[in-house]
Amino acid sequence: GLSRRLDRPVVLVGLMGAGKSTVGRRLARRLGLPFVDSDAAIEDAAGLTAGEVFERYGEADFRDGERRLVARLLDGGVRIIATGGGAYVNAQTRRLLNEKAITIWLDAPTDLLAERTARRPETRPLLNKGDRAEILQSLIEQRRPNYAEAHIRVVSQGGSHSDVVETIIAEM
Ligand code: S3P
Repeated sequence: GLSRRLDRPVVLVGLMGAGKSTVGRRLARRLGLPFVDSDAAIEDAAGLTAGEVFERYGEADFRDGERRLVARLLDGGVRIIATGGGAYVNAQTRRLLNEKAITIWLDAPTDLLAERTARRPETRPLLNKGDRAEILQSLIEQRRPNYAEAHIRVVSQGGSHSDVVETIIAEM
């Protein structure tokens, strides 16, 4: 657990609702490091919500912007970065992240992801195209093998976020 000094960014990956942004912000505060959320950075740059970007430009353009943004964030020094759930699924982005950062897969059980993503459905454009539970289930199945390539896997069972933060620090 952090016996060596952090010399690279720490990046949280995983599905929508896993808690990447909340845990990332707390982890950053705990370590005294800056925090960046890739979705929020895209929204700032575009002046639109992620949902609006999907609607106006489509998923392919969103992914392209996301890949370029993540590459830029990685060169910004040691910090905590929360990525949107799809960023690490892109093979190019995944390779770059594993080369330049410590990648942490925040894993969570399906029912917890379903419960959390149901709270503000307008912020999850991918889940609004049909049956939410079915789409979420198929994303979980498709993406787990990708997330499994992260350096560290931490399971969040829906307990306190600070427990997750301490587990991450212990695992690093
Ligand atoms: C996406 C996850 C979202 C956002 C976009 C696409 C995905 O981020 O980037 O809606 O493909 O899993 P969160 O994981 O922060 O919800």
